Parts: sequence; C-alpha cells; structure tokens
Amino acid sequence: MNVYDSHRMAVILENFGYEPAANQADADLVLFNTCHIREKAAEKVFSDLGRAYLIKQERAEKGQNTVIGVTGCVVQAEDEEIAKRAPYVDFALGPLTYHRLPEILTKIGRKRGETIIDTDFPAEAKFDFLPENRSEGGCSFLAVQEGCNNFCTYCVVPYTRGAEYSRPVAEVVDEAKHLLETGTLEINLLGQNVNSYHGEDESGKERNLAYLLRRLAELDGLKRLRYTTSYPADVDDDLIACHRDLGQLMPYLHLPVQSGADKILKAMNRRHDRKLYLEVIEKLKKANDKLRFSSDFIVGFPGESDEDFNKTLSLVREVEYIQAFSFKYSRRPGTPAAVMPGQVEEKVKKERLDILQNLLFDYQTKFNESCIGKVFEVLFEQKGRHKGQLIGRTPYMQNLHAKADKNMLNNIVKVRVTDATTNSLSGEVI
Ligand code: 5AD
Ligand code: SF4
Repeated sequence: MNVYDSHRMAVILENFGYEPAANQADADLVLFNTCHIREKAAEKVFSDLGRAYLIKQERAEKGQNTVIGVTGCVVQAEDEEIAKRAPYVDFALGPLTYHRLPEILTKIGRKRGETIIDTDFPAEAKFDFLPENRSEGGCSFLAVQEGCNNFCTYCVVPYTRGAEYSRPVAEVVDEAKHLLETGTLEINLLGQNVNSYHGEDESGKERNLAYLLRRLAELDGLKRLRYTTSYPADVDDDLIACHRDLGQLMPYLHLPVQSGADKILKAMNRRHDRKLYLEVIEKLKKANDKLRFSSDFIVGFPGESDEDFNKTLSLVREVEYIQAFSFKYSRRPGTPAAVMPGQVEEKVKKERLDILQNLLFDYQTKFNESCIGKVFEVLFEQKGRHKGQLIGRTPYMQNLHAKADKNMLNNIVKVRVTDATTNSLSGEVI
C-alpha cells in the first residue's frame, strides 16, 4: 500500500512542477513515506531523518533550501514524537491526507521554520482529490479499499489507517482504465482487508470484491488480476467462484493465517480458527487446482508456547506455502497485545523465527524446483543485473530472469524454466 501511495504522491508532485532528483543532495524536497507496522520500520524513520538533516544543513551552506516531509503511518501514530525528535521536519501528513500535499507545500513557501502536521481522518475521501493515476510499467497497484475494522490485537492499522473505506465501483473501473491505457497489463487490487470490499456501484447498490473482479476482467487489455491482502474469514463463495471462472485471476493467493494454534488466534482476535482457515484453502483449491498460497506469520505472540508454535509448523506442512512473510511479534504501543501477560523473550522469538523460516524456505525451494522444465507466461518488469537480461514475474509471483530483448520489457512472454533457487527462477524465452 505504501508503494501505491508513494507512486500517487509522485504523480501529485510531478503535476505540481517537481521532477525526480538523481540523489538526495540534489533534492529540494525530500519525502519519507513511512510504515508503523513493526518497531523496526518505525525506528528507521528517525535515523533516515537524521541523515536528511545533515544534507539539508550542507545544502543550506550553499544557499540551497531543502524541504523535508514525512508521510504515512508513523506520522499518524507519532506526530508529536516527530516534532520533538526531528523539529527540522517541515511537514508531516498522515496516510489519509496526502492529497493535501500541494496545499501544504504552498503554505510552507510562506511560513518557514514551523512543522505543519496534518493527521486528520478527513470526512472527504482523498481519492476524490488525487490527480489521475498512470502506470509506471506493466504491473500496477490499485487501492480499492483502505483501513481496517478487524482490530487484531497486535496490529496498528485500524488506528493509523482508520476505519474501512471502499472506493465506489465506477471510480475503481475508471482508474483501471487509465492504468490500462498507459501500459498496464496486470492490476493488483489493494486493501488492508481487500475482500471485505463493499463499494457502491453506479446505481448505489453495495457490491463485493467478486463483483469488482468480474467487472475489471471485462476491460480490454487487462491480462492479469490479483488482489492483496485477504482476510480468511471474509473469503465468500462468490470470491471462490472467481478463481474458477476468471482466466485473468492469477493462481496465487496471499492469505495470512498468522498462527496455526487456535489459542493464539483467539488471543489475536482473529475471526477464524485453524479449521476454518483450512476449509477456505480446500474450497479454493477445489475451485482451481492450480492455486497456490502464501501467508503472513507472527511468532512469539504473547502466551505462545512451544506447543502452539509447533501447531504453526504443522499448518505450514499441511498447506505447503510457496512463499511467505514471517515476523517476530513486535510490541506496538496502544495495541491490546502490548500489555498482555506472557510476553515472549527475544531469544525465543528469534529461535522460533529461524525454525519457521527454514521450513518455509524448504517448501518455497521445493516448489521453485518443481517448476524446472515448465513453460510460464512471464511479465517482464525490469532490467536485470547483467546486460541483455530482464527480470519478471511468473503467475505464481516468482522472480524469473532470462536473456530477453529490451522490447519485451513490460510485456508478457512465454519462458521455459531452466533453473531454480529459493528466491528466483531462471529461464529461456521461447
Ligand atoms: N508484530 C509483528 N508482525 C506484525 N504484523 C502486523 N502487526 C505486527 C506486529 N505487531 C504482520 C502481520 C500482518 C503483516 C502485514 O504484518 O503478519 O499480516
Ligand atoms: Fe491489521 Fe490485517 Fe488484522 Fe486488519 S486484518 S487489524 S490490517 S492484521
């Protein structure tokens, strides 16, 4: 979601007369779009800001002015902290107010030396105020839903991105059309809880994600569709049917489970248990036997015993994820889990993370190796490290590099897989 927001901010700034600087020392404006999900990400902001301040001072000696701005969820959660620890920051905007960038930059032009903070949960939808989106390449993100009402006990999102909001169907279709007209082939629909999408259609009727996927699949030029991130308890039969019916919907789904132990899922306030999660996976596989899954995991949630952790391992063995993101539980101020008894020692968290990641890597490697000899359609997205090489994605989101002509960039090309490692494939264009 932050990549999407950053891109939209870049479009705002370009329309406002800015252009990308080659490096920070050349930049009149430095903008940090921040993440608050885990402590490490949030702390990084302050060290990045410290470095930017040094550059700002060097530039000032040469008579050049530098505006430093911070956006994103750290601002929403720690606006006072930013003003205190980094008073040289000129402005700070929450994730729901970045459409006000031009207004803020104009204000800064007039009043220097004060930090302008805007962390409203505004009544207006920022999407109504953003300039038209355009694609950066063959793959584009498209936010259709934002915020979350789930309140998992470890998570800051409901506090930083606010309550769930679904964009109207027509607005999403319109943005998709612009993306397709400017070179997009693949659209990844985004939302913190994307499958709880309930936007209004043209007649004011509430529609679900399945309806939206079907509408988008009708658009000329759309070759690939994905959606991220789904909440297991909200996967309905309509959505499952889309995986059977829609050729553009890729056979790879990110479906975070967080833990394999019911006791922990309950303490996390997840609205699914292990059984429900596995039933959803079964139904999806029945609808489309090519479907494979990825997930998010948290280890060392308060109260997690060895036995609970082993249940997470056994779930991994059952689902055989082909990719996954796994994290040590990070205590976030203001969330219920931060003050739960049974906080797990750092050392234990680290041990569990290592064990889990090794198991996940085994399955990932096994899947990648099983692809050798197969032919995939690959969407080439960027140049490779070596001359004459391009890097793209398979339908299963694997990175694949191959010798390929430059004009295959941002195109879908058939490739035979020749080699595989844990993190990538290599292949030959056919
Ligand atoms: N600690 C560790 N991981 C977290 N996530 C969210 N909050 C925390 C936290 N406090 C993880 C979840 C979520 C992913 C985006 O980040 O696994 O699915
Ligand atoms: Fe956070 Fe996702 Fe839970 Fe919402 S569903 S509270 S975004 S982990």
